[in-house]
Parts: sequence; C-alpha cells; structure tokens
Amino acid sequence: MERALSGIKPTGKLTLGNYIGALKNFKDYQENYETFIFIADLHALTLPIDPIELRNNTKDIVAFYLASGLDPEKTTIFLQSDVPAHAELNAIIQNYLYMGELSRMTQFKDKSRKMNDSAIGLGLFAYPVLMTADILLYNADVVPVGEDQTQHVELARDFVHRFNTRYGKELFKMPKAITPKVGARIMSLSEPTRKMSKSDPKGDIFLKDDMIIIRKKIMSAVTDLGSDVIYDPENKPGISNLLTIYAALSDITIKEAEEIFKDCHRYGDFKKAVTDKVIEVLEPFQKKYKEILESGIIDKVLEDGARKASYTANKLLTKVKKTVGLYVHK
Ligand code: AMP
Ligand code: TRP
Repeated sequence: MERALSGIKPTGKLTLGNYIGALKNFKDYQENYETFIFIADLHALTLPIDPIELRNNTKDIVAFYLASGLDPEKTTIFLQSDVPAHAELNAIIQNYLYMGELSRMTQFKDKSRKMNDSAIGLGLFAYPVLMTADILLYNADVVPVGEDQTQHVELARDFVHRFNTRYGKELFKMPKAITPKVGARIMSLSEPTRKMSKSDPKGDIFLKDDMIIIRKKIMSAVTDLGSDVIYDPENKPGISNLLTIYAALSDITIKEAEEIFKDCHRYGDFKKAVTDKVIEVLEPFQKKYKEILESGIIDKVLEDGARKASYTANKLLTKVKKTVGLYVHK
C-alpha cells in the first residue's frame, strides 16, 4: 500500500487556508493509503513562540485533525517531537543539503526578509532539512500540502536523487507533493493578492472564529470592479478568491461554481452565499472540535501514534545509519 504523509506546524491560529489547502484533504487518504499525519512542533520553534501558546496550539491541531474526520484507527496521528528519529535523521541528512539551495527557498526568504541577519535562527534556515527528514522517515509516496510547501518537497526530491545516486541504492522513496485542485492557495480577504496566513489577523478566517465574526469578515471582503461573479485571478482577485473558497468547500470545480452564480449580479448576494457555505462547514466542525477537546482522548491518540510512528521511522533510520557507515550494534 502506498503511503501518504503530511503535517501542520502549531504556530498561530489555523486559518481557512490551512483547512482548504491541507487539513480537509487528509482524511481522503486514509482509505487508500497508509497515512501518517503529524504535528510539526519542532518546526514551530523556528520562530519565537510562547511555550504555553505552543502547547495549546498543539492540542488544538490534534482536535482539528480528529474533527476533520481523521480516524486514529486508520491514520497514525503523532507529534514530531515524540519520535526522536526525526531529529536524528535531520542530523545525518543536513550534510547532503547545501547552503545555496536552502537560501533559495521562498519561505525562508519571506520569513527572514524583515529580520536582522544576526537574529535569524539556524533552524529557520534549515527548516526544509527537517521537513525532508519528516517525509523520508516514512517512505512517503505522496505529501498532500498547499502550494506554498511544494518547493520544500521538491528539495526533498533533489535530496533523494542525490543520496540514492551517491550510495548506489534506492534507499529513499521519491516523494511527490499533491496540492488540491481547488484552493491550493487561499488569499487574504482584505488583500486578495496576498496569501491568507496565520500571522495576519486582518483578512483571515480562523477556524475558531465565532460565526458572527466570520459573517462580518466575508461580507466586508475586498471585491473588484464590476458585478459579475467570474474567475479571473488577475483582474478580479477578490471575487476569484471567494469563488475558490465556495468551490473548495462545496467539493465542486471552479467552473461549476461559476455556473451557480452566473445570474447573480450583486456581489452582496454572492458574499452571502459564500458566508453561508463557510458557516455550513465550520459550525459543525467547531462543535466536533469542542467535543473532542472535552472528551480527553488527545493524550491516548498521541501515545498510540508515537508508538506506531516510531516503529516505522526507526526501521528506516537504522537502514540509513548502516548505509552511511555509522556502526549499528546489536
Ligand atoms: P502551515 O500553517 O505553514 O503549517 O501550513 C499547513 C498547511 O496548510 C500546509 O500544507 C500549507 O501549504 C497549507 N496552507 C497554509 N496557508 C494556506 C493558504 N493560504 N492556502 C492554501 N493552503 C495553505
Ligand atoms: N512545512 C509545513 C508547513 O509549514 C509543515 C511540515 C513540516 C510538513 N514537515 C512536513 C508538511 C512534512 C508535509 C510534510 O506547512
């Protein structure tokens, strides 16, 4: 059976972009793939974060995973920091990835742009090395992510090619990023030419937002000139983004969504329909999330997940150690 692996880092509040680009798609894999979904908590340390916030965010993401339909019987759900093999493989493979290629990563450039050189943590720079380790430890065939993560998966692919060639064997599987057909890049509601991101409260819909707030945010989303609801990201970024959100949450194509609104010539009516759709999805999702948090099952899920994930990861780690010449004793 092929394997699917992905993760979300517990920084900030999860957004509708995280939901559409990543979270909501994970459950689709658990029927046909051996699926590993984790919380990238070590990655959350790459930028300063309050310890209490990190712990709360971590619990939240587990609850979100379960609320989205991930079943711990089918999917291994675990914390990155619970499986030391991630850090160990990271220590080995960092020697096969180069400063030049890491410094070309868009995410690194974006995040470090506003920072003073002397304050950029090494972990932020080396972020894709750990991500490569995450993916390869589980021999993942597919990595479902939003568009902003595809460059990191490409780097993992370059590494696999480099390492396998160097040691003359197919030790690592070649992973492939899979982005959703609709909604791989959800944009900010207030500035639709910019990605919706956890660190920008304006124009973001957070998964924990109250329904009244969600309604307000969508109804005041930036739109464009004209009155037709058509998909044209260049000239109508605001309307195109809302159309994408509607289509993704309805599991239909953009074309089908356009068809639904072809006789709608008032942006206000269209926004109301988008709002209703978002609420139709998020209201029951929030209810489930709260029930899960109250049920107290999170620790048990993580404990089981850590055991299963470690078993798989350690097998691969041992093979890597032997391959590079580390002495593995009985
Ligand atoms: P992160 O918040 O960086 O841990 O991202 C978790 C997942 O959500 C990754 O697969 C991202 O690609 C995805 N993601 C984040 N923001 C967006 C967005 N605005 N649109 C679509 N996917 C996103
Ligand atoms: N870098 C991803 C993000 O910010 C999170 C992540 C860490 C990840 N390791 C991964 C995603 C491995 C997929 C596979 O969204």
